[in-house]
Amino acid sequence: MTQDRHTNKRVLLTGGAGFIGSHTYVALIEAGYDVAILDNFENARRDVPDRLEQIVGTPAQVFDCDIRNTEAVQGVFAAEQFDAVVHFAALKSVPESQSNPMGYFETNCIGLYNIASAMQATGVSRIVFSSSAAIYGNPESMPIAEETPACPQSVYAQTKRVGEEFLTSLAQATPDLRLGILRYFNPVGAHPSGLIGEDPSQTPTNLVPVIARVASGQMAELRIFGGDYPTPDGTGIRDYIHVLDLARGHVLSLDALFGETGSHCVNLGTGTGYSVMDVVKTYERVSGRTIPYHITDRRAGDPAVSCAATGQAKAVLGFEAQLGLEDMCVGNWHFLNRQNR
Ligand code: UD1
Repeated sequence: MTQDRHTNKRVLLTGGAGFIGSHTYVALIEAGYDVAILDNFENARRDVPDRLEQIVGTPAQVFDCDIRNTEAVQGVFAAEQFDAVVHFAALKSVPESQSNPMGYFETNCIGLYNIASAMQATGVSRIVFSSSAAIYGNPESMPIAEETPACPQSVYAQTKRVGEEFLTSLAQATPDLRLGILRYFNPVGAHPSGLIGEDPSQTPTNLVPVIARVASGQMAELRIFGGDYPTPDGTGIRDYIHVLDLARGHVLSLDALFGETGSHCVNLGTGTGYSVMDVVKTYERVSGRTIPYHITDRRAGDPAVSCAATGQAKAVLGFEAQLGLEDMCVGNWHFLNRQNR
């Protein structure tokens, strides 16, 4: 379904300097939205706004603000009247969340509460919320439809589920509030300029950032977590989605919130699964490097297969992923090489 564009709308991107936030910033500007960024730069480089300016040609408006700070958040919403919020700002490391539940609930839940409260106080009635396929846990049937009961397996996933439920309750109690919940599968890739991409400040734990470090010689080898899954090559299968497709999904979600579709909750994936070995081979091909690896024990909590059912995103938002695994690996490798130049 084609939505009318609501291009005069002012949108606040919390976490807008991060990996998915920065790509969504570009996509929203290109779609004609008027966008501001709120970020505390804890897990984003300070020069991301300059890089965004190089891409879109106009300076980015940035609020240097921590969503845990109630008064600071209120200050941002008092300074400007927004029409919508896209809420990316969150902590997202599964292993870190297990050892720091206080920190994860504080940022991901209290931070969200602060944003929702400031929205309510200033009459902002549209929000897109970054959720994750992690909320599904290890479902029995594939692909995973949105109706699948949530079964979070980590503190990180719990905080995302709490966020979904909180906003859903708020929307039920607030007739004007429109809510878009986007459940991301495995985002990979980078903007073709090579100026923005995934740039973890801590040691990476996700597959492609680890492979990238191995390919560039910063890590000796990849450990493949499990070679005995019930999959064709024995390694885990995931639904990797290009960050540019994901960014476009946010534009469509906002269009829907401003249009007739209204509130929605959809998966953002491609519907196609690739194994760890598929990703290794593709990355080797695009980088021209060998990726040394060895197969170790399975990682606790990892499902064998995770793939999105994509019908709802298509029906509700008109969203279909267009880019494939090779584009994702090329984007990641190009970004990495530009940083190291
Ligand atoms: C992880 C998170 C998920 C989060 C998502 C964001 C866990 C358990 N889940 O998903 O909550 O939303 O990232 O992108 O961490 N792998 C290796 N070696 C590595 C790293 C990964 O073999 O060094 C394998 C994993 O076993 C898995 C696949 O690569 O089969 C993808 O792993 P990863 O990139 O960490 O993503 P998920 O675990 O799917």
